[in-house]
Amino acid sequence: MKREFIGDVLGSTDMDREVTVAGWVKTRRDSKGGFSFIELNDGSCFANLQVIADNTLANYAGDVQKLFPGAAVRVTGKLVASQGGGQSVEVQAAEVHVFGHCEPDDYPLQKKRISFERLREIAHLRPRTNTFGAITRLRNALSVATHGFFQARGFYYLHTPIITTSDCEGAGEMFAVTTLDQDNLPKVDGKTDYSKDFFGKKAGLTVSGQLEAETYACALGNVYTFGPTFRAENSNTRRHLAEFWMVEPEMAFADLADDAELARDYLQHLFRYVLDNCGGDMDFFNKRIDTTLLERLESLVDSPYEIISYTDAVDILVKSGETFDYPVEWGTDLQSEHERYLTEQAFKTPVIVRDYPREIKAFYMRLNDDERTVAAMDVLLPQVGEIIGGSQREDRADVLRRRIAESHLEPDDYGWYCDLRRFGSVPHAGFGLGFERMVQFCSGMHNIRDVIPFPRTPGSIAF
Ligand code: 4AD
Ligand code: MG
Repeated sequence: MKREFIGDVLGSTDMDREVTVAGWVKTRRDSKGGFSFIELNDGSCFANLQVIADNTLANYAGDVQKLFPGAAVRVTGKLVASQGGGQSVEVQAAEVHVFGHCEPDDYPLQKKRISFERLREIAHLRPRTNTFGAITRLRNALSVATHGFFQARGFYYLHTPIITTSDCEGAGEMFAVTTLDQDNLPKVDGKTDYSKDFFGKKAGLTVSGQLEAETYACALGNVYTFGPTFRAENSNTRRHLAEFWMVEPEMAFADLADDAELARDYLQHLFRYVLDNCGGDMDFFNKRIDTTLLERLESLVDSPYEIISYTDAVDILVKSGETFDYPVEWGTDLQSEHERYLTEQAFKTPVIVRDYPREIKAFYMRLNDDERTVAAMDVLLPQVGEIIGGSQREDRADVLRRRIAESHLEPDDYGWYCDLRRFGSVPHAGFGLGFERMVQFCSGMHNIRDVIPFPRTPGSIAF
């Protein structure tokens, strides 16, 4: 079916020609003058196209006057400069073809505003709302910008496995993947006998593609993954999902300073890209979701990044005089409220906290010379707090083996990982960016559940 996108039609200067568009009716308004205004949206941009349907159309009474929000139509007509305000062009319909009518009594998306909570219950229809249309285009733009950034720097896009035996973050938050009959589990020594399971081992959904990405970085130089990751953490917060997407670059011949520089360049690239490419959607977010959004993003396109040690960060927090819900002292992990204080109050700029205590970070991070801290970094942004977690990797075989043992991991499961340190070990580093947190940050949306098409959270798996 030949049709033009409404986004292109609205930007067109070639008037008085015939156009065909197709989309979903947003509103219909009948004029006393014997014609109707139809607002049409096809997802190609935020704005609607105004269609004028005259009562001389053969199906005016039969179809046009029965159009309600949600109906799917195709319109062919003349593109003209608009008479009324609010839009520059409109289409005078010569033909209105209705693919599917939409019953107003049953359709939940009427003109009046629906809460985001209610929209989660109708996640199959929410892409038709202004907000979710805009979010979808923003997600797409951030994906394109991600590939553009890494491709331009010679990183290879790598597909790491979804099903794995390694718990990269060592936090015990893996979902199990099994074909064993849950009502009749085979046992040895009182425990489930996974040797009878599909893979002959206990397997789960990946929490991160990092360990596998390291193997390719240690052969091809620079790689990145961009895929789904899964965490069975029972966190009912506005920043956590059980299934989320992560972008994980991994660089050979790189240390923590290189890692921090890459993170900053990547973030700045993303901000610039959405400001340059998502105009209509960004204006909407700035008007309806967060009126400080554009100002914030524009300031971050080339703002400096403060790099401080965890030890200094704790010092600042302790001396801040703030009352936090969670007390801070050296050795505890930073909570969202602490992260936000550092970036929003203390420095008023993005902050990279580095060199965390070894006890609170994963086994693979390079042990610093002080033996108390590891070469980790978290990148903190206002509003969302931690957007990126990364590190320089432990590249010394003996130290890594010690750390695996200390972390109570099964050494046999990580033999292949240790091999990278036996055969031509190189300093290497990487990070993971939570993609939904980035969509949240760029849209100003409060809850992470409203920036992914079908959110998976504790107790919630519909659709
Ligand atoms: O800090 P994390 O756990 O780091 C890793 O997984 C490393 N293996 C990454 C690497 O070095 N290659 O997670 C990285 C980012 C966090 O900073 C956060 O933005 C996001 O992933 N994240 C989540 N986003 C949504 N829901 C969750 N439950 C998340 N957990 C982490
Ligand atoms: Mg982290």
